[in-house]
Amino acid sequence: MQELEWWQKAVFYQIYPHSFADGNGDGIGDFYGMIDRLDYLQELGVGALWLSPHYPSPFFDCGYDVADYTGVAPEHGTLDDFKRFLNEAHQRGIRVILDLVLNHTSDQHPWFIESRSSRDNPKRDWYVWRDGKGGGPPNNWYSGFGGPAWEYDPATGQYYYHYFFKQQPDLNWRNPEVKQAMWDAVRFWLDLGVDGFRLDAVNTIFEDPALPDHAAEMSLPELYHQALQAASSEAGQAQLVRQTEVMFQYQREQPGMHELMQELRTVVDEYPDRMLVGETGEIAYYGDGTNELHLAFNFPLMKTTRITPTWVRANQQERLSALPPGAWPCNTLGNHDSPRVYSRYGDGQNDDALARLHLALMLTLRGTPFLYNGEEIGMTDLPLEDISQFRDNLGVWVYHTVVNELGMPPADALAYANYLGRDKCRTPMQWANVPNGGFSPAGVRTWLPVNPNDAQSVNVAEQLDDPDSLLSFYRRMLRVRKQNPALIAGDYTVLHEEAEDYLTFLRGSVADPSTGPSASSGHASGQAGQTCLVVLNMSDQAHTLNFDLDAHTAELVFSSHARGGDSDDLSQLTLAPFEIYIGEIKRKT
Ligand code: GLC
Repeated sequence: MQELEWWQKAVFYQIYPHSFADGNGDGIGDFYGMIDRLDYLQELGVGALWLSPHYPSPFFDCGYDVADYTGVAPEHGTLDDFKRFLNEAHQRGIRVILDLVLNHTSDQHPWFIESRSSRDNPKRDWYVWRDGKGGGPPNNWYSGFGGPAWEYDPATGQYYYHYFFKQQPDLNWRNPEVKQAMWDAVRFWLDLGVDGFRLDAVNTIFEDPALPDHAAEMSLPELYHQALQAASSEAGQAQLVRQTEVMFQYQREQPGMHELMQELRTVVDEYPDRMLVGETGEIAYYGDGTNELHLAFNFPLMKTTRITPTWVRANQQERLSALPPGAWPCNTLGNHDSPRVYSRYGDGQNDDALARLHLALMLTLRGTPFLYNGEEIGMTDLPLEDISQFRDNLGVWVYHTVVNELGMPPADALAYANYLGRDKCRTPMQWANVPNGGFSPAGVRTWLPVNPNDAQSVNVAEQLDDPDSLLSFYRRMLRVRKQNPALIAGDYTVLHEEAEDYLTFLRGSVADPSTGPSASSGHASGQAGQTCLVVLNMSDQAHTLNFDLDAHTAELVFSSHARGGDSDDLSQLTLAPFEIYIGEIKRKT
């Protein structure tokens, strides 16, 4: 029986440090708060935490502009506080991975301050500096965050390249000293006992050194405008994705990436039991399945307006068959850059039932699930009411650009900035129905406003007391996953391939479960013995299903609804609307 690694078994939970728990009452989350909430996380049942950046940062891109790769932001605490947090997490059996921002630093990082100080500074070549062309920038590239990708530096008469904001100059990864410095930072954290890294923006690390102009037919603001018009149409979205690819074709996914990932993997493999997960949906980052990243997110699953059975089946079919041997899938529906799962995939009527189905999907598909803080209480997007409240400069840029360049009325521009900006999913965690949601003491101004729906039971304290709450459901389902090895290690075999309302699949061995695992879907299941049937009724209709497994009955493992007994006849399994059903397949006697 194949033994799985911890990162294959654990459910990961992303903490956004500014918004998780404010332990010192200054309106910003910190390590004191995180330490206090470790018991909560342990009881929730998560096995690993991913921390969004906790490093010193001017916060122009909310922490993704790092000014010191081996430090701790003073607003979050000290390095000793971090060590205490790590130790306390480990004592509870919870692993911790950090965010590693390789593509760029802050423009306040001492490396960049040196680099821009003169053309012959030893760190000049640590960043991407070029001469202008014809009185303008070196080419027509855009920053992915808007405006040109080049910033002129009058002091030294050259331009520097930035894929993101100009406050985030790109490092020159072709310079071996850059690699050395960054691998030193990686070792620093690994030496402290950190369990791995989530790699930020891996696909933008290199750019085409010949700097060819892109051939897109529209400007970036026009592209944004089209994005708005196409927001609700999948065909429109696809068209937009193609345009974006043309616009950024020389700035993303350039040669050299995979060699770099292999090198980083070698560094990480010097330490036992560590892992890397990349902010990329590209399967190529798994390398041959053993020599690049341990995990790459199944982002394609998220790219829809509604999670339907047909969508999930098609996604799994494509994704699982594309993985190289030995590679392990990784599923998520939300993070600090995307709308809240509850808001994004809800239908406005059955949001609570759908939120439960979305969690059940994450916990039963084959692969490591990543959850984002606050999903467990059904936190929703909070549209901000005034542009002055925005902390995400992407939202601010969008607002001013569409007002000034496209003449959009301010109210529409605000809605659009909320739509593209990311503050809406980064508001403080709602711990209780008290002032400031229990995140900060009453009267303190929190760094982003607290969503007032903490007063409508969207808070931890009330949901902990309610066995029917979403939070209680999360805790139960996480336990179910832990107690049923087939849900973690079993093969995935889809059933009812045409069904539009429900998703049904087996996890475990496909052949007669009493005879042990088969090699059915190309991966060793590692589970002699257990096979689970997962049924997710994603519709508001009741259904009675017949399974072509007629020698079997299923023993109830979990249902979101009250059921008649502990055993079910698989030739007529009845399902309530939105029911989540998990049964263990047993031979009929
Ligand atoms: C990643 C982060 C995002 C950040 C960007 C630039 O996409 O997830 O929050 O703005 O990289 O670092």
